Amino acid sequence: MSLQNHRAVIVGGTSGIGLATAKSFLSRGAQVIVASRSQEKVDVAVKELGTAQGYVLDFQDESKMKQFFEKIGDFDHLVVTAAGGGSSNGPFGSLGIDVARAEFDGKFWGQYTTVKAALPYIRESGSITLTSGVLAARPTKGASTLVALNSAIEGFARVLAMDLAPIRVNVVSPGMVDTPVYSGMGMDAESLTVMFQKVAQSLLIQHVAKPEEIAEAYVYLATNTYTTGSVLQVEGGAILAGI
Ligand SMILES: NC(=O)c1ccc[n+]([C@@H]2O[C@H](COP(=O)([O-])OP(=O)(O)OC[C@H]3O[C@@H](n4cnc5c(N)ncnc54)[C@H](OP(=O)(O)O)[C@@H]3O)[C@@H](O)[C@H]2O)c1
Repeated sequence: MSLQNHRAVIVGGTSGIGLATAKSFLSRGAQVIVASRSQEKVDVAVKELGTAQGYVLDFQDESKMKQFFEKIGDFDHLVVTAAGGGSSNGPFGSLGIDVARAEFDGKFWGQYTTVKAALPYIRESGSITLTSGVLAARPTKGASTLVALNSAIEGFARVLAMDLAPIRVNVVSPGMVDTPVYSGMGMDAESLTVMFQKVAQSLLIQHVAKPEEIAEAYVYLATNTYTTGSVLQVEGGAILAGI
């Protein structure tokens, strides 16, 4: 599964799943461009990745995204792993609509804006891979906003697969993954370890994913030339286990 001579843009590629995906693409010979909001994260990621280029941007900003893709020019694979928020849990009605809107802005509308701005530059033989989350397939109580927005991403991608063909459009739906997103939500190391252990015990696969295990799904969807309109679940058996 070579990506030799392919150019890939990974929006959100400076941390967690996106950073691991950048490494996997590079190891298959791709030229990689990573982007996110924080100059510091971009600098650290570019240093760690060695040969990748890095850009600072907010994927919710339409005009900045247009300028970015104009600068990048033609490329083969778009991966979007960027997301903010993720902390809007609570019984329906307990949180303000502004909180729900901000969650959609920070994930669904960012992905939408990115695809729209990137489209003129993605080669017809190329691919787009978006990111949802296992909650779309396995809703839990109190997660109405996160379930709705991840389901929206999967529906959006299915229609894009038709509208943008022959460009292939797919979604990776991760289960729980050990990434900096949790420390970013203010969880301390001890509470994180306890949470991961509890989740691991209930999963069929008995461990919480490392970002590298999810990254391979993005490589598969970029390289398999016969897959489009699909949602690839990489969730350690969470759906079957009912957690
Ligand atoms: N980790 C999990 O357990 C899990 C489970 C299910 C689904 N997911 C999904 O997987 C994806 C990746 O999550 P992760 O755990 O790898 O998170 P992460 O480590 O926090 O990485 C998120 C990345 O997105 C960037 N980002 C956030 N908001 C952005 C914006 N407005 N514009 C541009 N870049 C932005 C961040 O960098 P900056 O701060 O520099 O912008 C960072 O590089 C997300 O869609 C998440 O919802 C994760």
